Amino acid sequence: MNDDTPAPLRLHALAYSLGVSAALTAAARLELADALGEEPLPVEPLAAAVKADAEALGQLLRALACHGVFRDVGDGRYAHTELSLLLRSDAPGGRRAMALLAGAPFAWRIWARLDDAVRTGRSVFADEYGTTLFAHLHEAEPALGALFDRAMAASGEATARAVADSLDLAGARVVADIGGGRGTLLKVLLERRPYLRGVLFDLEQVLAGADAALLPGGALADRCTVRAGDCHTAVPVRADTYLLKGVVHMWNDDTALAVLRALVRSAPPGARVVLAEQVLDQTATPEIATVMNLLMLVSQGGRERTGHEYQDLFERAGLTFGGITATGSVVHLVEGTVPA
Ligand SMILES: C[S@@+](CC[C@H](N)C(=O)[O-])C[C@H]1O[C@@H](n2cnc3c(N)ncnc32)[C@H](O)[C@@H]1O
Repeated sequence: MNDDTPAPLRLHALAYSLGVSAALTAAARLELADALGEEPLPVEPLAAAVKADAEALGQLLRALACHGVFRDVGDGRYAHTELSLLLRSDAPGGRRAMALLAGAPFAWRIWARLDDAVRTGRSVFADEYGTTLFAHLHEAEPALGALFDRAMAASGEATARAVADSLDLAGARVVADIGGGRGTLLKVLLERRPYLRGVLFDLEQVLAGADAALLPGGALADRCTVRAGDCHTAVPVRADTYLLKGVVHMWNDDTALAVLRALVRSAPPGARVVLAEQVLDQTATPEIATVMNLLMLVSQGGRERTGHEYQDLFERAGLTFGGITATGSVVHLVEGTVPA
């Protein structure tokens, strides 16, 4: 399909692109990428390895190969591609956990009501589950909560390195990662700068699965404090640099302002606040940013923002806006300072 394909067919394909998402989740659940080694294999042994019906598995592989995930080598055998390799369980920076999360039953349930979220401007999550996304992840479905954290850690690895490369930490002594998840970014920063101390702040259930290097007994534990808390209530952390990567986009402006103002109250004058977010009008990957924008809305009432919207948010929170820089990854750094 290309720009010459008739418009009705292009729209038809878009309307059914949910099938591509479902196919990726199915492949991830079947551990299909793990079953295929370096050499191409016919469908039958692959089906036996993943305990699937051979004909149906052929249908799945054909659909995925149409999008460059696995490749039909021409004689009925399938081989890996650079995309399918990322579905392997042990692929560095892989996306198997993300494919499982994207197609988890809760995701289908809330996406089905996107029109309601657009009508009201609010998340449908509480209507469907009677609570917030994170309360649900940690209280009702802890296995899903752990999957969420794994997906964030794996998909955030390369971004964390790009952020670490771009972040000028000259003069910084204590860096706090607020909503830092399992500590992927903080670990990279502490490994690269032996003089730096770090604080990993997140919900208690998430910190239990933090990277072992940051936890007591770990290689970086003497320079890392792991602090559980709910940043909606307070951000009781003192640091000279506060990082929030992929966090502020989960919230509407009221919630984002409440958290940033709480942070400003705790932080020493002159402290830096750095968000790492997809910036809608500057991103090189709008296909990802615009869909995440909708996912934040439907799941949490949040939103991605333009550069101007981040500047406005910072100023309303009482921060001095410092500018936006590219990292060469999907996120930009949005910087501000706590006024003296
Ligand atoms: C989208 S993830 C990003 C994680 C990490 N910063 C990264 O980039 O991979 C959002 C993080 O915010 C945390 N979070 C959500 N609500 C929170 C709250 N009220 N207080 C503290 N952390 C929270 C989640 O547990 C999760 O780790």
